[in-house]
Amino acid sequence: MSIPYTKKILEHFMHPHNVGQVENPDATATEGSPACGDMVKLSLKVDAPTKTITDIKFESYGCASNIATGSIITDLAKGRTIDEAKAITWQKANEELGGLPPVKVHCAVLAVDALKTAIENYEHRHGLLKEKVPTDEKIVMKRLSRVINPLAGLDVVRTKIVTEVRIEAGDVTVFVELPEDHQFAANLRNEIQERIEPLWDVRSVNVVFRGK
Ligand code: FES
Repeated sequence: MSIPYTKKILEHFMHPHNVGQVENPDATATEGSPACGDMVKLSLKVDAPTKTITDIKFESYGCASNIATGSIITDLAKGRTIDEAKAITWQKANEELGGLPPVKVHCAVLAVDALKTAIENYEHRHGLLKEKVPTDEKIVMKRLSRVINPLAGLDVVRTKIVTEVRIEAGDVTVFVELPEDHQFAANLRNEIQERIEPLWDVRSVNVVFRGK
């Protein structure tokens, strides 16, 4: 059965705008998991005095809808302030693309989540948070609930492979129940560090594998 894509989706899929990585980005974000297939990476540059997004690029390992959404939301975000860009929703992307097939809405959500996370990461690292809540285990676990356990296709919190989190003066240690030499260990370490390092008061993130 073929999926009914609009002309606009096909145009953005075949000729996506803003593909690649911004040089020396001010913030980045990854949503999804390379090990599971669906993944979007986003990087952006912000003019600090005006808080305007001057450059933004994405890389997608997802489907046509995901690529088209990455293309349209980066178009919409470029030249906007970070507050304006935060207001971009998957519904807006959907509307701009002329309507995604309902089974493909999650692909748009993934791309919009990457934009929101990149902006959130920027705010953490540039003193723009309205309220500076000290990082605790709950905050770390919330962020880790977006990291996929490639062995299960669900996140590392729900599948309980993150067994403990320790936080001492900005140094975070995450314990993972997986052998250090596991084929997914290096990738998981990167994903965990990428999720936790942007938090405003975190100095370092150490991932310890202690499975057999
Ligand atoms: Fe996975 Fe679209 S990104 S089906």
